[in-house]
Amino acid sequence: MAYSANYKDIAEIRLVSSIGELASEFLNILTDLGISDNDSRKAVNIALSGGSTPLKMYEKLRLLQHELVTREKLNFFWGDERCVPPDHMESNYGNAYKTLLQYMNLSDDQIHRIRGENDPDKKSNRYEMILKEKLPMKDGVPFFDLIVLGVGEDGHTASIFPDRLDLFDTNLWVSSAIHPQTQQNRITLTGDVINNAGIILFMALGKEKNKILKDIFNDKKTAFSYPSYHIRPGSGKLIWLCDKPAVNRI
Ligand code: 6PG
Repeated sequence: MAYSANYKDIAEIRLVSSIGELASEFLNILTDLGISDNDSRKAVNIALSGGSTPLKMYEKLRLLQHELVTREKLNFFWGDERCVPPDHMESNYGNAYKTLLQYMNLSDDQIHRIRGENDPDKKSNRYEMILKEKLPMKDGVPFFDLIVLGVGEDGHTASIFPDRLDLFDTNLWVSSAIHPQTQQNRITLTGDVINNAGIILFMALGKEKNKILKDIFNDKKTAFSYPSYHIRPGSGKLIWLCDKPAVNRI
C-alpha cells in the first residue's frame, strides 16, 4: 500500500520535555475539543491507551484534572485491552481507573471498558455493539473525538501488531489479537476506527523510540511493516507528543 502524502506532511510533532508537560499538552488538546466550554456541546468521546507512557501521564493528569471543569461531557473508552480481569496489574482499564478515573467523579455510564477477561472474540463483538450504541458515526464508522496511542519498538500501536496489518483492511471495528512475544490475548480497535477519529494522538518518549520514528517520519520501506505507519487520519488531525530523544535527527 503506497501513500500519496509523505508522513511528515500529515503529522504534527509537539515537543514535550517531561511527563508533566505531556499531561499539560493533553489537557490543552481536551480544551481544543471544547471540553472546558460551558456550552451544551455534545459529549467528548475519548479512547485511552495502555502502556507505560500513557500511564505515567494519567498519574500527572490526576493532579491537573480539577481544570476539567466540565468533565461530565467526557466519555472514556479504550483503544485496546489485554484479556485479563479488570483488577489485573496489566489491565489498561484497571490502570487508568486506579491512577486517574477514580478521582474524577465520573458516573458509571461515562466509562466503557473492554471486557477482555472472557472469550476475546465474543467480547470483541460486544464492544462493537457498545461503540455502535454510544458513539456518533462518521462515514459509517464509529467516531471518537480523540484516540490516544502509544507506539511499540516493533511499530505496533494499540494491539495491532506487525503480523496483523490485515486489521487495516477489514470491516470489523474491533478485533481479537495475540501479542506475538507473550501470546497474550488482546482486543483492539481496527485501523478504520482509529483513522476515523477527530484527533489521533500518539505519545512517544525516549531514545528507544527514535529508530521507529525516523523510519516512519521519513517513509522508509521498513515503515510499511509498522502498524503505526498506517495510522493516517481520514479527515482528522494526527499529533505526536514526543520528547527530544524520541525525535532526534528525524
Ligand atoms: C498497550 C498499548 C500499546 C502501547 C505501546 C507503547 O496496551 O500496551 O496499547 O500499544 O501503547 O506498547 O507502550 P509504551 O508507551 O510503554 O512504550
